[in-house]
This record gives sequence, structure tokens and C-alpha cells, in this order.
Amino acid sequence: MNVDLKTDLFGIILKSPLILGSGPLSYNAEGMISGYKAGAGAVVTKTIRNRAAINPYPHMAISGRNTMINAEKWSDISAEMWVEQEIPKAKEAGVVVIASIGHTPGEVMNWAAAVDRAGADMIELVSYRQEMIVDMIRIARELTAKPVIAKLSPNWHDPVTTAQAALDQGADGVTAMDSVGPVLRIDIRSGRPLLGSEKGHGWLTGSAIKPIILRYVAEIADQTDKPVIGIGGVVTAEDVVEMLMAGAAAVGLCTAAILKGVAYLTRLNREIKKLLVELKYESPAAVCGAALPNLYKQEVLDRFTFSFNEKICTECMACVKVCPYQARSLSVGGGEKKMELDEKLCRYCGLCASVCPTDALSLEGTSPPAGTAPPSPPAGTTHSPGTLRPHRNNINGGIKRNVQ
Ligand SMILES: Cc1cc2nc3c(=O)[nH]c(=O)nc-3n(C[C@H](O)[C@H](O)[C@H](O)COP(=O)(O)O)c2cc1C
Ligand code: SF4
Ligand code: SF4
Repeated sequence: MNVDLKTDLFGIILKSPLILGSGPLSYNAEGMISGYKAGAGAVVTKTIRNRAAINPYPHMAISGRNTMINAEKWSDISAEMWVEQEIPKAKEAGVVVIASIGHTPGEVMNWAAAVDRAGADMIELVSYRQEMIVDMIRIARELTAKPVIAKLSPNWHDPVTTAQAALDQGADGVTAMDSVGPVLRIDIRSGRPLLGSEKGHGWLTGSAIKPIILRYVAEIADQTDKPVIGIGGVVTAEDVVEMLMAGAAAVGLCTAAILKGVAYLTRLNREIKKLLVELKYESPAAVCGAALPNLYKQEVLDRFTFSFNEKICTECMACVKVCPYQARSLSVGGGEKKMELDEKLCRYCGLCASVCPTDALSLEGTSPPAGTAPPSPPAGTTHSPGTLRPHRNNINGGIKRNVQ
């Protein structure tokens, strides 16, 4: 099967669905060119404002696996430099450039036409304040014919309604979403915050925020046909596919590329291709929104059954240990493994199957969810066509097929 990663975004053909999001890696043309060469389909500039940012020290720290906090502001180089030097230089090198402008209507007025003239292919508008974004879109719409994208924040009280309002004002699509915060981390040796910002506040990005972002991407994609760029917590190829399934037309990432180095994008494109072959999708566009018809309208009140494949059970006992009700036991002896479930104690919460690292224990559904392309079961497993594989893969993707 031939998988093509090319992705159409507002009529612009990207070589990959991956977009290097606004952040420290796109600090100038040089950073953007590196990101593009490594495999990004497009690169978003660090956010351009009237004045260059002065950041507190320190302003970035790791906070758990593939997760960061940061108090980095917008671009620390001037808007003039971006339009005179950096955007033209990135364009000359062939980069598909998305110019990020923040954070007020006045700044859009000042810079939207200028980044357009400098050669930006698209313009992304970002604001800390929900009430400003719609005005920013309206102004940009008058100043440029290039695609205009509203970047949404999970910290606003109603980003879903705001997405629609921005689209109604002429936005061509939305980016969902920005970092989550404010948040706080403390160094217990010094008793001080990890970041040097006011009150030590930072913003959370990377793996920890993925479920928050996915929920918004799905909700927004469900209400519009306009493209949604899903960004937040994407690390692995499985994360990319999950974001596409939730309705993203293209997938951004920032933290993973910072923590793993920008060359990671090359590997990630390779892994996405491999995974799409395995899942039998011929392109990212074919995956886009595949999960949306499966989002339950009502709670599922039919119990599932379990499937156990002793051949791939490693006897790790994770499923036994994790059961809060002591409903599960595994006995091993005489060359046999016996998985037992006390149905009176079991609440069918599903946790035991979700922690199984090999899929030896899985949930059986009654039929494959409509609209998805269930992957074929691995050779030698007992998964029936009714097994809830797509769902399970999403849960366990980061564990079993971790590309880290
Ligand atoms: C250090 C850092 C700096 C960032 N700076 C910007 C910025 O200037 N403008 C912006 O719109 N988003 C900025 N972001 C947010 C990212 O573009 C992205 O929306 C967010 O990190 C979620 O994606 P991720 O989980 O893949 O990192 C920044 C993120 C990080 C980690
Ligand atoms: S489904 Fe929940 S209650 Fe039942 S065995 Fe598994 S962890 Fe225990
Ligand atoms: S978690 Fe999976 S591999 Fe580990 S004991 Fe249970 S069934 Fe076997």
C-alpha cells in the first residue's frame, strides 16, 4: 500500500501533515529552515508583536515525560526584522511559512499586511484574551487575501463558541490549541518556583495536555468543515493519528521537537507512514475525522467482555495489580497461564485491559465502530473483528509503539 503524506491545507500542498508550531525552534529564519528541512510541512514563526520580548530567567523546564512548562513570551526579535529579513529568508529556502501575529487588534493592524508582503503563506493570530481574537480576525481579513487562522486557547472560558465566531468573521481555519495554564512547579531543594516569571507561573505543553486538546479538536471539527490544525501533546505517530482521527486536518507539535531535537521530525514522518500502512489509510486526509462518528451520543450501558491471549501475556501482573476491586487473578503453572475474573467483584471499569502492555488482555465489543478502519489483529492473537482495537490502540499507543 502506497501512503502519501502530502496534505492540502487551504489549497497549499504540504509535504507532511506535521506543522512545527510557534515556539523557540522557530525563533528566526534559521530555526524555521531547520524545522522545514527536518520534515515539517509548514513552520509557524515565533509570535510577532510590536516590541521584542524580554523573557524571565529561567523560562523553560521539563515537567514529567515529554511535558514542559514555560514562561517564554513572544518573539525576542523585532517585527521589523521578521518582515525585512527572517520571513523572506525562510521563503527563499522554500519553507511554507505561517506568520504568527499577537496579541491585540492593533498589532494585527500593524503587521498583517507586512507579513503578507514579506511572503508568508498563511497568517495565524493568537491572543491571551478571548474577546480580542474575533476582532483580530476581522481586521486581518481586510488586510490580506492569504489564509487567516485563529489560534485558540484552552484557558478561555469557551473556545468552541469562539472558534465558530472567528470562522464566521472570515477565519479560514483554527489552530487548537495553545499551552495550558497558568501552572506552577516548585524545586523542593530550594523551595523556589522552577521558572523565573511572576509568581513562578508557567504554561504546560506536551504529553500531559493531549487529552484536553483532543477533546476540543473533536468538538470544533464536529461543528465545522473548515480545517482544524490540532496541536498539543503530540509526540508519537500514534498521537498524530489520534489527532487526525479527532478531526485535525494537519497536526502541530512544539514540545516534542524541542525535547527530542528537530531531526526527530524526520523519524516521525517515517513512523506516521508505517502506521498508516498498518491501519490501512492511504493518506492523512483519509484519517481526518475518522473517530467523529464514533463519539457516543449517550453513555454505553452494555458491558463488554474480555479477550485473553496467553501467548503474548508476559506475566507482568500489571492487570492484576491495578484492579481496585481485586477481581482479577493470573495463575501460572504447568506451562499454562490462567487468567481469572471474579464477575461479582468486577465493575467493568476497563482499567486492567488498558494497562496491558502487549494487548494480551483486551476488551471485546459487539461490532467495530462505524466509520473507522479497524487494523488487522497481530498474527497469532485471538482478536475477533469485534475487538475494540482502534480505541485500545489509542490508549496504549504511547506504551507499545513508543518511538521514543
Ligand atoms: C517554549 C514555548 C514557547 C512557545 N511560544 C509560543 C508563541 O510564541 N506563540 C504561540 O502561539 N505559541 C507558543 N507556544 C505554544 C505552542 O505553539 C503550542 O501551541 C503548545 O506548546 C502546544 O503544543 P505542544 O504540546 O506540541 O508543545 C510555545 C510553546 C512552548 C513550549
Ligand atoms: S475491569 Fe476493572 S474491576 Fe474488572 S477486573 Fe478489570 S480493573 Fe478490575
Ligand atoms: S497486563 Fe497483560 S501481559 Fe501483563 S499479566 Fe496482564 S494480561 Fe499478561
